[in-house]
Amino acid sequence: MEQGSRPKIVVGNWKMHKTIAESLEFVESLASMLQEGHGEICLAVPFISIPAVAKAASRHGFLIGAQNMHDSEAGAFTGEISAEMLVDAGARHVLLGHSERRLLFSETDDFIQRKVVRALRSGLRPILCIGETEQQRREEQTKKVLSAQLNNCLAGLSPEDVSRTVIAYEPVWAIGTGLAATPEQAEEVHRFCRQVLAQTWNEQVAQTIPILYGGSVRPDNIDAIMEMPNIDGVLVGGASLKPDSFSKIVNCLTMNVT
Ligand code: PGA
Repeated sequence: MEQGSRPKIVVGNWKMHKTIAESLEFVESLASMLQEGHGEICLAVPFISIPAVAKAASRHGFLIGAQNMHDSEAGAFTGEISAEMLVDAGARHVLLGHSERRLLFSETDDFIQRKVVRALRSGLRPILCIGETEQQRREEQTKKVLSAQLNNCLAGLSPEDVSRTVIAYEPVWAIGTGLAATPEQAEEVHRFCRQVLAQTWNEQVAQTIPILYGGSVRPDNIDAIMEMPNIDGVLVGGASLKPDSFSKIVNCLTMNVT
């Protein structure tokens, strides 16, 4: 697949923000601010908003996703949500392995791998988040950490299944800090991830899979980020909460579509 021919994707990660009413208001206001021909838009919203927001968003062609799920089909897991329930509620994507889940809820690569498998079997597209901490970068462990996360979280998957996932590279030190990776730092990592994917699976998987960048993406740095050939889109936290900033990011990707 040639550079620039992978689809462009923008994912908003709302984390623990917005009531259902606020979410519906956001969707209508975002829709009124978008230019023609934008790339794929996905909003990863709180579980409870998925049914209502998926219905409203489908009128505008946005996809709705979840921010997490359990790896089991069903069972005695108080407070958890299954992939089947997410699909039933209208979700199409699910964020898996976000660094907040790894750090605050002790999620391991093994647990995340089981979730990836379950999501794919249930018809959800996993958005697998990977990223190094500040200390790991300082100690020059970035590539080692990322190749382990990729190989562990996608272990045992066929090339076809890997091609149905999305990777989001989110350096932990860039999330919510205002300190985004430079476009060159992100590009270097994205290129490296493709090498790992080519080695473990094959070149076609490596060239087909969308790799998004996340961590302090804003309207004022999106242009430079999207100029990089191996960056296929962005995962946006803080700037996805306001239609004004999120629409500016989405509209920039429209212009970057080649
Ligand atoms: P941020 O968050 O854009 O606020 O840095 C990104 C994320 O956590 O996915």
